[in-house]
Amino acid sequence: MDTLSSSFLPKLHPKYIFSPIPLSPPRTSPHPQPNSLNISSVRIEDKPQTTTTTTTTSRRAAPQPVKKQTPPPSPQQTNTRKRPSTPKTRPTEPVSLPTTIFNVVDGFINTFVDPPLRPSVDPRYVLSDNFAPVDELPPTLCQVVEGSLPTCLNGAYIRNGPNPQFLPRGPYHLFDGDGMLHSIRISDGKATLCSRYVKTYKYKVENKNGFSVVPNVFSGFNGLTASAARGALAAARMVAGQFNPVNGIGLANTSLALIGGKLYALGESDLPYAVEVAQNGDIYTEGRNDFDGKLFMSMTAHPKVDPDTGEAFAFRYGPMRPFLTFFRFNADGTKQPDVPIFSMTSPSFLHDFAITKKYAIFPEIQIGMNPMEMMAGGSPVGANPGKVPRLGVIPRYAKDESEMKWFDVPGFNIIHAINGWDEDDGDTIVLVAPNILSVEHTLERMDLIHASVEKVKIDLKTGIVSRHPVSSRNLDFAVINPAYVGKKNKYVYAAIGDPMPKISGVVKLDVSVSDSDRCDCIVASRLYGESCFGGEPFFVAKEPNNPSAEEDDGYVVSYVHNEKTGESRFLVMDAKSPNLDIVAAVKLPRRVPYGFHGLFVSENDLNKL
Ligand SMILES: [Fe+2]
Repeated sequence: MDTLSSSFLPKLHPKYIFSPIPLSPPRTSPHPQPNSLNISSVRIEDKPQTTTTTTTTSRRAAPQPVKKQTPPPSPQQTNTRKRPSTPKTRPTEPVSLPTTIFNVVDGFINTFVDPPLRPSVDPRYVLSDNFAPVDELPPTLCQVVEGSLPTCLNGAYIRNGPNPQFLPRGPYHLFDGDGMLHSIRISDGKATLCSRYVKTYKYKVENKNGFSVVPNVFSGFNGLTASAARGALAAARMVAGQFNPVNGIGLANTSLALIGGKLYALGESDLPYAVEVAQNGDIYTEGRNDFDGKLFMSMTAHPKVDPDTGEAFAFRYGPMRPFLTFFRFNADGTKQPDVPIFSMTSPSFLHDFAITKKYAIFPEIQIGMNPMEMMAGGSPVGANPGKVPRLGVIPRYAKDESEMKWFDVPGFNIIHAINGWDEDDGDTIVLVAPNILSVEHTLERMDLIHASVEKVKIDLKTGIVSRHPVSSRNLDFAVINPAYVGKKNKYVYAAIGDPMPKISGVVKLDVSVSDSDRCDCIVASRLYGESCFGGEPFFVAKEPNNPSAEEDDGYVVSYVHNEKTGESRFLVMDAKSPNLDIVAAVKLPRRVPYGFHGLFVSENDLNKL
């Protein structure tokens, strides 16, 4: 839990909702207690009464008003724990005998073989409050309830996140949900919300069957006996032709990126899925893209797009050698050859990386893929406290790993990177990233994670690594002005974990301050208020094509949900103001669940899709 905000939040009165926070809050707070997960219920009754549309909506259709809105839940509802109701089933054809047998076996495993569910894989906890899934929402006009939407926001802000198509019948981890895109299409001050699943192979197979078929990656390993039983069941389903893993079993639930002018929904266990945003705000999945057969297996959900060259740098990782493979796409989206990295010595959990103008920087951390433990029914990812974290630096146009250098950085475990750049004519590289101080909690107890944003400098000539934190707060899901990717920048906009994965506010950091003063680099901040939680912020420049514009001349946007009223809003905040003043608030016609990463796509880029 964020040690600063946790003691401050209870003092907030509802009238301060969406109000700025003081820059020097109290510094004492008890550690979070076991089981203090801040959960209340799985609000299945909160699922919206909206039409689920997959292919019938015209791309030219006008936005529709909401026909029926879900009433906000009462406090009693949010304080009552209840099991998810029976999963919805939409069989479209007679269920065969093998399928019936498989489903009976699945139910048997869930009921009699699974050990008691840990909170991290218990859907009653994982899908509580605003983590509960919603149905799709066709393009629906929204009401601007405060201020007005700036013209630079013409385009679409789209956020990805997990939203299971079927309520889990057994263990379920937050990372296991089908990807759903929540897009707010903005045009001349008007806003339209649309929520659509990414139509992955897994989604389509299961939608056709009317029930879950593909096993969950993160929660499927739940004790040796149950894991073995699930493995055998999955094999039987494959043999019976229910699904073919060759087509990908990814969820595309993590993020979005523009690569070669095309928009992709991403999840690191599969290939990118191309998506399109129609003029009316609707979202369509075009399909899984292997880039003319040149992209294999999977790709990170955090590619880095150089704002000057348009190139996209990316990688994939896995449990088999080479554990890491680096590659890039030209500005036109043509994939370049793989660069296998054999010098990565273990199958590290490699979620993100950074680029500079000269290099790519890869972390090898204490969290790793754990094939042996996985086979014994444990988590597929675990922490190895005996491992020394390293940073690997490779020229970003390298054709092989011969020039790659690794640097030990003890105690530096990063899941996300914020930015990197070159200094001293390329002799020094700088990396800014949140360091996870309690890696052992990565999958099981996200509420106990504290992430400290650090600035790390690597002297490539001497090999000396220096580092220092730039804030004491628990910060992650951080972004910068996208025009500064790979270049020296000052400002970072980061989400406040309170505790993770809930986000109580946003701060603005000036990381240049730390060069002369080791004080906290927070220069602006905003708490969303009591019972209000947001997501990853995103920065949208006011004048993206003006090279002389100031780095922070723009807006910070995010979805924010009020758990007491059940209302979700889209907030637009002035990035230059010390309190991140709200310049526009859009009341959303339906709640937007908490999720992962988002992207703003300008009108100009939308028109090129
Ligand atoms: Fe991420």
